[in-house]
Amino acid sequence: MVDLQGKDFLKLLDFGREEIEAFLTRAAELKEKKKQGIPVDHHRGKNVALIFEKTSTRTRCSFEVAAHDLGMGTTYLDPAGSQIGKKESIADTARVLAGMFDGIEYRGFEQSIVEELAYYSKVPVWNGLTNEFHPTQMLADLLTIREHFGYTEGIRLSYLGDARYNTGNSLMVACAKMGMHFTACAPKKYWPAEELVHICEELAEASGGSIRLTEDVMEGTKGADVVCTDVWVSMGEPDEIWQERITDLSPYQVNRAVMENAGPQAIFMHCLPAFHDLGTKIGEKISEKYGISEMEVTDEVFESPQSLVFVEAENRMHTIKAVMDLTLGG
Ligand code: CP
Ligand code: NVA
Repeated sequence: MVDLQGKDFLKLLDFGREEIEAFLTRAAELKEKKKQGIPVDHHRGKNVALIFEKTSTRTRCSFEVAAHDLGMGTTYLDPAGSQIGKKESIADTARVLAGMFDGIEYRGFEQSIVEELAYYSKVPVWNGLTNEFHPTQMLADLLTIREHFGYTEGIRLSYLGDARYNTGNSLMVACAKMGMHFTACAPKKYWPAEELVHICEELAEASGGSIRLTEDVMEGTKGADVVCTDVWVSMGEPDEIWQERITDLSPYQVNRAVMENAGPQAIFMHCLPAFHDLGTKIGEKISEKYGISEMEVTDEVFESPQSLVFVEAENRMHTIKAVMDLTLGG
């Protein structure tokens, strides 16, 4: 029997496959209930704190909508609007907030910060993205894969781009835990840290999955069921890095040739936001400076029927709701 009550949700490495399945199953139930208009609000009277030291659209909205659906109140602490880390330590913040709230979400920089917050908090802490991991995104991705293919076991997932940051690392862990076949297609310097690769190789051996790292896009995406990518420059990274990233990662763009190489069964996924056209301020700036109008994914692939990015985005809410529900004793 899986019991998740009182647990923190800091990274998928902390959970067994059955527990991850339990989050997904609960998310699917909650999604179905929401679609049928059946309220699930048995957490009435509780309150959650949402700390965002980096900006967000999906994660913030998911936590807020999910909390309200569950009957809970929310307090949003924006990147500038609290004392955290500046006038007040993480340890003190954790103890203050845990006295007022039933759960705390944290999005920010190093994983060690959210781990410290959880250590000092007597209520569950949920990781809304750190430099190293993005575990709530993984539940949404796994749910999307499960809905589309009917299962996750044995799915071949290829990730193109910066594979050593939050999304790449987390996808590797998710695949290793779930018996999926993970391939990172990237220049060597963007491969995940060796230590994490070793941990994932061991997990994959136990789960029936596998881990592969390659610089060869065509070899790495041949026959993939899921082709994933992420932005080339992540939140908190300096603007000066754009030139280097464009040079290094342009050969790893997800375009028609990559999707055709994967095959007609392949779906495209992206945690979003994505640079696939000139519809953003940063996109325009990059286009003026470097003369490119698309980055990690072409507009053609992004808008194609193979692209499930908006289903994936919606699933953020249902899976985050499941995380709060089960860890708060749903
Ligand atoms: N995918 C994701 O985490 O999006 P936000 O940055 O908008 O929350
Ligand atoms: N790697 C991206 C993910 C955004 C959801 C970032 O950290 O900015």
